[in-house]
Amino acid sequence: DTAEIGLIGLGTMGANLALNIAETGHRIAVWNRTQARTETFVDEAGDLAPNLVPTASLAEFVSAIARPRRIILMVPAGEAVDDQIDALRPLLDAGDVIVDAGNSDWQDTRRRTAAAGEILYLGLGVSGGAEGARNGPSMMAGGSDRAWAALEPVLTLIAARFEGDPCVARLGPDGAGHYVKMVHNGIEYADMQMIAEIYGLMRDGMGRGAAEVGAAFARWNEGPLASYLVEITAAVARTTDPETSRPMLDVIADRAGQKGTGRWTVIDAQTRAAPLPAVEAAVTARVLSGEAAARAEGAEIFGAAGTLDLSDADLEGALLAAKILAYSQGFSLLAAASAEEGWDLPLPRIAEIWRAGCIIRSALLDEMATALTEVPGQRLAFAPAFADRLRSHLPALRRTVAAAVAAGLPVPALASALGYLDTLRQPRGTANLIQAQRDYFGAHGFERVDRPGQTGLHGPWTDA
Ligand code: 6PG
Repeated sequence: DTAEIGLIGLGTMGANLALNIAETGHRIAVWNRTQARTETFVDEAGDLAPNLVPTASLAEFVSAIARPRRIILMVPAGEAVDDQIDALRPLLDAGDVIVDAGNSDWQDTRRRTAAAGEILYLGLGVSGGAEGARNGPSMMAGGSDRAWAALEPVLTLIAARFEGDPCVARLGPDGAGHYVKMVHNGIEYADMQMIAEIYGLMRDGMGRGAAEVGAAFARWNEGPLASYLVEITAAVARTTDPETSRPMLDVIADRAGQKGTGRWTVIDAQTRAAPLPAVEAAVTARVLSGEAAARAEGAEIFGAAGTLDLSDADLEGALLAAKILAYSQGFSLLAAASAEEGWDLPLPRIAEIWRAGCIIRSALLDEMATALTEVPGQRLAFAPAFADRLRSHLPALRRTVAAAVAAGLPVPALASALGYLDTLRQPRGTANLIQAQRDYFGAHGFERVDRPGQTGLHGPWTDA
């Protein structure tokens, strides 16, 4: 009764991943902290049940797996992962592999890899939600070549495919996979926020109902914006609440949750001096969405927003341009982290494995993979293919942001993307003034344009 692989944690993601593996013909041992869940899981597995090996204790689980053992953890990120590793360790042998498939903090993965000793450790970012886990996720692996070699065959079988190419790769050592997954989630936040802002403009500035909004997104999903997030936006906007017969969007409270990966991305990016303003705007927007009382009070004090005169083509172009800028920020962060951590992250391959299976999959990612291959090291927004696209769609982004600002409708992520680009096309910025101010009040010194390289110069400041 030997299983080829094992999985711990039968929540939605773990259960679906186990079924996906079972479907490839692999026998998989499963264990869950509450045994009742293991039993229902196997009972409901139908045709796949013969490939599942339910176990009632951790010891039984470990001994059911052929050596060297491959054990996938799908438990909540944080302490639960450490606890599970501690419980497993005395039962394992040298050369066994633990795979953490949760949304773990990459620095935890680095620490756990270092502490694993003779046990091999693979940090695996898994994207695609419940559906992806069941039918083909995108997977970002970090770990040693040996750990990867042990898992590559099965991960390749269960991964999503883009034109036959499996969306899984080893991206670097230890925390690299979870790091890339974190940045994926940061981009996901920006993508979702920008879509939500465009929805807000249609709803509040153009008087459109949810069904009309859904129709617009469905049309855009046929063009360059084609993506999973645009597709599901069209679907959710067109869904009706069976209880009230109103659009579902109109009955859902406007308060967004977050489990933290977007915030981690922003903090990490600031630490590396490789900021992603579009993701910052998105994280901030989620936080402010929780301030319902303040927003009601603000509306009382400052009044309601006005209306907009924008075309659908403007909205579509604005979303496209802003999205390119957000992704460019994300890839720049990956490049910075890669250099700093010595990871040698394969940016084109990352774009490739994001083309299917993951939440941010889109037609654009295929073009991004090509651009990142053709001009390695270049900022994505400046790569010829994307610079061309930006030149075509920036006017739409400008009109959209300008109209929204004039009407008083919030578009923080769209505006931040535009501000990022405008900052990057201003040869002489305004930091000369910042330096003068710093020198004035704190004698921090500055560099002169006519004496490059010479530091520690001070101004002949007159009294204020
Ligand atoms: C995915 C998702 C998934 C989840 C994140 C973000 O790639 O499948 O990113 O991992 O949605 O945890 O969740 P929050 O919005 O709750 O932070």
